[in-house]
Amino acid sequence: MSSNIDVICVQENAITPDLEKQIIDVQRAAFSDVKRFENHRWLIKPGSNDLWFLAQKGKRVVGSVWLHHRTVAAQVGPLKIGGIGNVCSHPDVWGQGFARACLTKAQEYLSHSDQIEFGLLFAGRAESAFYEKLGWRRVENPIWNTAEGKKIKEATGVKMIYPARFPLAYWPEGEISLNGPGW
Ligand SMILES: CC(C)(COP(=O)(O)OP(=O)(O)OC[C@H]1O[C@@H](n2cnc3c(N)ncnc32)[C@H](O)[C@@H]1OP(=O)(O)O)[C@@H](O)C(=O)NCCC(=O)NCCS
Repeated sequence: MSSNIDVICVQENAITPDLEKQIIDVQRAAFSDVKRFENHRWLIKPGSNDLWFLAQKGKRVVGSVWLHHRTVAAQVGPLKIGGIGNVCSHPDVWGQGFARACLTKAQEYLSHSDQIEFGLLFAGRAESAFYEKLGWRRVENPIWNTAEGKKIKEATGVKMIYPARFPLAYWPEGEISLNGPGW
């Protein structure tokens, strides 16, 4: 059960070379079709205060979730987001609750944050059920990746939100600009 699984929370600027290697190992195995994860820990550069929720089996990291701080632009104004990404566990331990344990800790962080207003993630179609079970809700807003203030590409995947400082009912309608690349 997730409750017996150790999950540590490490800020980006405290990731040691050993943790870096362990996260790469898990992500490489889990996302075997993502070339960048062969040697890198991230698709877009994390901020120094971003967080990693890492599940351990013994001393080995076997599950990982990245929480990215980003202020996005909704039509009603700026929104402080905890962006969830890189959700994975090592194929050796699939089905044993490790990804759920990491995500649950990230959700606890969102729930207790007095800064972040919503969690936001982009799920694969098949995986959206995994997030729904953990309380994430699907939204249909057009969400844009931007660069230098210009819309580049509409976010793909199933867009899902989680309550943080604001309840889900406060989620605004209309277009959202990510103020940078998606995750
Ligand atoms: C999807 C993934 C993160 C699940 O990890 P896991 O450690 O096996 O998941 P858990 O054991 O914590 O499962 C938690 C629950 O989600 C369910 N679940 C697991 N994988 C699922 C999937 N792909 N789709 C739907 N539900 C899933 C489990 O059955 C379990 O349900 P239960 O609470 O009713 O028992 C893992 O298979 C993975 O790393 N996949 C490759 C990377 C990936 O696709 N990440 C998601 C990107 S959106």
